[in-house]
Amino acid sequence: MKIGQKNFLQLHREYTQETLNEESLLANPFEQFQQWFKSALNAKLIDFNAMTLATADGVGRPSIRTVLLKEYDESGFVFYTNYESRKAKELNENPNGALLFYWPTLERQIKIEGTVKKTSVKKSEAYFQSRPTESQIGAWVSPQSKPIANRQILEEKCNDYKARYNTDKIPAPPAWGGYRLKPTLFEFWQGRPCRLHDRFQYTFTHQEWKIQRLAP
Ligand SMILES: Cc1cc2nc3c(=O)[nH]c(=O)nc-3n(C[C@H](O)[C@H](O)[C@H](O)COP(=O)(O)O)c2cc1C
Repeated sequence: MKIGQKNFLQLHREYTQETLNEESLLANPFEQFQQWFKSALNAKLIDFNAMTLATADGVGRPSIRTVLLKEYDESGFVFYTNYESRKAKELNENPNGALLFYWPTLERQIKIEGTVKKTSVKKSEAYFQSRPTESQIGAWVSPQSKPIANRQILEEKCNDYKARYNTDKIPAPPAWGGYRLKPTLFEFWQGRPCRLHDRFQYTFTHQEWKIQRLAP
């Protein structure tokens, strides 16, 4: 289907809900994130903890995908995945990553850049044990990012693992665990009328967070 230019023009919307300014902005970007994340929670946005994760391989070719934020504090932003997936291979070659939250209902976007490291095995195992059984089985079944011949392979493996771990505690697969992105840059974007949006960037320099307003 071809969407004509006229239809794109009809998609135009103005952003009018909120403002972000020097007075209201918090000095600590983690606290600013916490404030906006809580607003997303309170607004009951679907998948508000879903974030786009950008990685790049050793020569800088980028790739992106959505992952779920499972924890954050001043040490970083944690997500869980397969350590043999494409993202994991790229993070092995190049530890730089970026995260993006976009909450259209709130007319807000948050960008976070930093370096990514694996969480401890103990932490990954503890989180794995908190997951529903189906998700635990799924982690064993899926060779994430690898080509597979058909869906049936997955379903058969799923049944095998269900039988194997019928009553037993399911351990985390060795190639499954967490990553933590430690931020060096945050950007908070609030949509405003006439495309004159509010943007504030925090960069970590000389052991403190420096704040700059950016042109939209
Ligand atoms: C809403 C949503 C949440 C997702 N959450 C995760 C997640 O937390 N961890 C994960 O490994 N994949 C998650 N995925 C799947 C990834 O987007 C992606 O397909 C997968 O991790 C393989 O990515 P890669 O081949 O780039 O490594 C999610 C997808 C969506 C749409």
